[in-house]
Amino acid sequence: MSEIQLTEGEEKMLAGERGHAVQKSMEILVALAKIYGAERLVEVSSVQVSGVSYKNLGDAGLEFLTEIAKDGHSVVKTTLNPAGMSLTGWKTMGISEMFAERQMQVIRAYEKLGIETTCTCTPYLAGNKPSFGQHIAWSESSAVVYANSVLGARTNREGGPSALAASLTGRTPLYGYHLDENRRPTLRVDLEFRLTSSEDFSAMGYFVGQVAKDGVPYFKGIPSAVTEEFKALSAALASSGGIAMFQIEGVTPEAKGIDTRTEAILFTKRDLTETKERLKDNDIVDFVSVGCPHCTLNEIGVIAEFLDGRKVTKEFWICCSKEVKRQSDESGYSKRIEKSGAKFATDTCMVVAPVEEMGYKAVATNSAKACHYLRNGGLGVKFMTLHECVQEALGN
Ligand code: F3S
Repeated sequence: MSEIQLTEGEEKMLAGERGHAVQKSMEILVALAKIYGAERLVEVSSVQVSGVSYKNLGDAGLEFLTEIAKDGHSVVKTTLNPAGMSLTGWKTMGISEMFAERQMQVIRAYEKLGIETTCTCTPYLAGNKPSFGQHIAWSESSAVVYANSVLGARTNREGGPSALAASLTGRTPLYGYHLDENRRPTLRVDLEFRLTSSEDFSAMGYFVGQVAKDGVPYFKGIPSAVTEEFKALSAALASSGGIAMFQIEGVTPEAKGIDTRTEAILFTKRDLTETKERLKDNDIVDFVSVGCPHCTLNEIGVIAEFLDGRKVTKEFWICCSKEVKRQSDESGYSKRIEKSGAKFATDTCMVVAPVEEMGYKAVATNSAKACHYLRNGGLGVKFMTLHECVQEALGN
C-alpha cells in the first residue's frame, strides 16, 4: 500500500465537502490507487460506465445506483454501456414488463446523475471519442482495447463502480495503462498470410487473447485495418484474455517497434480455421444476431444490401447505438432492413439482453466475443461471417 498525493480539491472531495456520492467515489478511487500503487490521481476527459443491464446489475446494483443518484452529478463527458433492452423498442423484442420496469429505473438513475444515456460499447462511433494521449476511464472491455490501441487514449479496464466514481469526480488513479511503461509490447505475433474479413480478425483475437493473457500483443504482418476489423479484434482479445491494448506494426499510433528478445508466436492459417471451428457447437440455431461490438454504419449498409427485398425466417437482431441507428435511418438502410422483418436492437445486445429467458437455445453470430459469453450463459453458438449470418436469418 502506498501513500497517495491528493490535491486540495481532491482532499475536499474525500472529506465530503461535495456531498456523499462524491465522497464515496473518492474513497473508491483512493482505495484502488493504494492497491495498485498509484502515487496520485489524474484528470480524465471521458468516461464510459458499464453495469447498465438490469440482467447483470440486479436489485443490489439498482439500489446502489439509486443511493448514489441522490446527490451525485457527473462532471465529465460520460456515456453508458448497453442496457438489457432497447430503451424505446423493448416491446417488439419480447422483453417482460417486469424486466423493462427495472431497467428503466436503472436508466433514470443514470439520467439523474447527468450521464448521457447513450448505451453502447462503441462510444467512439457515438460522440464519445477521446483523442491521442488523453486520460480516460472506460469500462467496457472491447472499448477499452479500442481506445488504448487505435485511438491512443489511456485507460485501464475499469469496473462499473470505479468508472462511475471517475465520472462524479473527474479523476482516476494514475497506474497501469496510463503509464508509458505498461503500454509496451509483451508478445510478438507474426502473420504470414492476409486476414480478409472482420471475422478473421475476431477469430485471431480470440486465439491470441488466450496466449497473451493480460499482456500487450504486437502484430507483425497486418498491412492495414479498418474500423470494423479493429473493433472485432479488440473485442475478441478482451474476451478470451485480460488484454487492454494491442499494437500493429506500421498501423496503430504507438507501434514503434519491439525488443527482439520479446517472446514470439506464429499465427497460422490452420490456427485461424481451428479457432473458428471451436466457436461452433450448434448447427441448428433459432436466433441470429450481429453487432458485437455494436455495428458501424458501413456494416448496416452491407446488411441492407444482403436483405433487400427478402424476408427473414428467424429472429434477427442488428445491435447498434442510437446514434448509428439515426445515421442508418437517414441513409435509408433502416427501412430496407426492417421491411425484411429483421430488428434493430439499439442500446442493447444479444449478450446483455435476457435472451435465454426469452426461450432461445442457440445463436448464430459473427463475433467470437459474443460466442464466448453466450456459451458461458448456457446457449449454443455458431460463429459465421456477416453474410452467412444474414443467410441463416433468411433460412437459406
Ligand atoms: Fe458490446 Fe454486447 Fe458485444 S456490450 S462488445 S455487443 S457483448
